Amino acid sequence: MTEDLFSDITDTLFNDKMVLSEEYQPDEIVEREDEIDAFRSALKDVLFGRNPSNVFVYGKTGVGKTAVTEYMMNALKTEVSHRDEADELHVHFRNCNDDTVYRTVRALINSIRGADRELFPETGHSTAHALETLYEEMDSTGGTFLFVLDEIDHLSDVNTLLYELPRARANGHLTTSRVGVIGISNNYAFRSSLSPKVKDTLMEKEIAFSPYDAGELHSILTTRAHKALIEGTWHESAIKLAAANAAKDTGSARQAIDLLREGGDIAEENGATAITDEHIEAAVDRVQRGRVKNKLRDQTMHGQLILEALATLEIKGATPAKSKEIHQAYVDVAEDRHQDPLTTLKSIQNHLADLTMLGFLERTEHNEGRAGGAHYQYELALDPTVVLETRDAIEAESP
Ligand SMILES: Nc1ncnc2c1ncn2[C@@H]1O[C@H](COP(=O)(O)OP(=O)(O)OP(=O)(O)O)[C@@H](O)[C@H]1O
Ligand SMILES: [Mg+2]
Repeated sequence: MTEDLFSDITDTLFNDKMVLSEEYQPDEIVEREDEIDAFRSALKDVLFGRNPSNVFVYGKTGVGKTAVTEYMMNALKTEVSHRDEADELHVHFRNCNDDTVYRTVRALINSIRGADRELFPETGHSTAHALETLYEEMDSTGGTFLFVLDEIDHLSDVNTLLYELPRARANGHLTTSRVGVIGISNNYAFRSSLSPKVKDTLMEKEIAFSPYDAGELHSILTTRAHKALIEGTWHESAIKLAAANAAKDTGSARQAIDLLREGGDIAEENGATAITDEHIEAAVDRVQRGRVKNKLRDQTMHGQLILEALATLEIKGATPAKSKEIHQAYVDVAEDRHQDPLTTLKSIQNHLADLTMLGFLERTEHNEGRAGGAHYQYELALDPTVVLETRDAIEAESP
């Protein structure tokens, strides 16, 4: 009776788990009153049929830039529909992750054209032609266009686009339509990479999002918990703990929400009826392990073997260790893993320097009296068991 295999599984704690996922668009934004006010004043010209301002939104990852911008766009669209003075509003979103100007313009054209018209070709045209086509589409539709370019720092040759687009009307490319650009970035250095003229136009209105503190994350999480979880399935202190952890680390609402979801999963795995502090602590641990694993996987084979050697030394209580001792342990590990070890001490030392710089290792300087001179000793900055577990997992995957 195969259908019985799943019949006893119930979502005991979650009422609607999707509310804790990345796709969920909150219908309620809390703790961002100042940013919302700044947005309101930056966008108000749209309500009166005037040229929209260009807006630059910036702040670290997970602080609500995308969520608040989407929320503001929806609110603006609703308001515009009630106002006679306002022109019809068209909002187009584009995530610029690893995009070119051509592909971005093409996506905007296609988004304006909608599903039942021909797509603009992927290749065979210049960026200038794509822009001309975009202006034609805009003018034949008419009204106000807001282009939201998220993760705009990932766009190659962004200066061309940001020079052209905001000036399209002033330069006579648009007559029946108006345009505003909303750029979003979590890379503040991106500003200084822009040409001065582009900086002046895009940064007409700047809205800075700061990291959340524990209190703000607490209220964001509480709002989410009421939607995502069944009432009575969490301890108030557990939510506080998740908020405090995320505030201490990054101030990211994404991180806080991830901790709550993970904590819920762990509570369910343990058959608990409520999420407690212990579940959140376990979630913090799990998320950290996940991060370490990903970082480890990005290292070269020899870098990984050196870390594995250090983990074995650490478990034996033989750290901090000199590069010579690490070299020996590394040769053993390499042979165990059927890899040809690097032979020179110098190459090991180079790897040790790199791994220290990446934060995998801690290095201390030691002086051995007159004869010995100064040398470095190393130890792992990570949990050695996580390193060994991950190494075993990577080995098990490789053919
Ligand atoms: N003030 C808030 N109220 C409710 N939910 C929020 C708030 N701020 C952020 N969130 C939620 O936190 C998560 C991360 O927010 P968002 O995606 O907007 O971050 P971001 O600043 O765009 O980050 P990135 O730079 O990584 O794109 C989303 O799930 C979002 O819905
Ligand atoms: Mg975002």
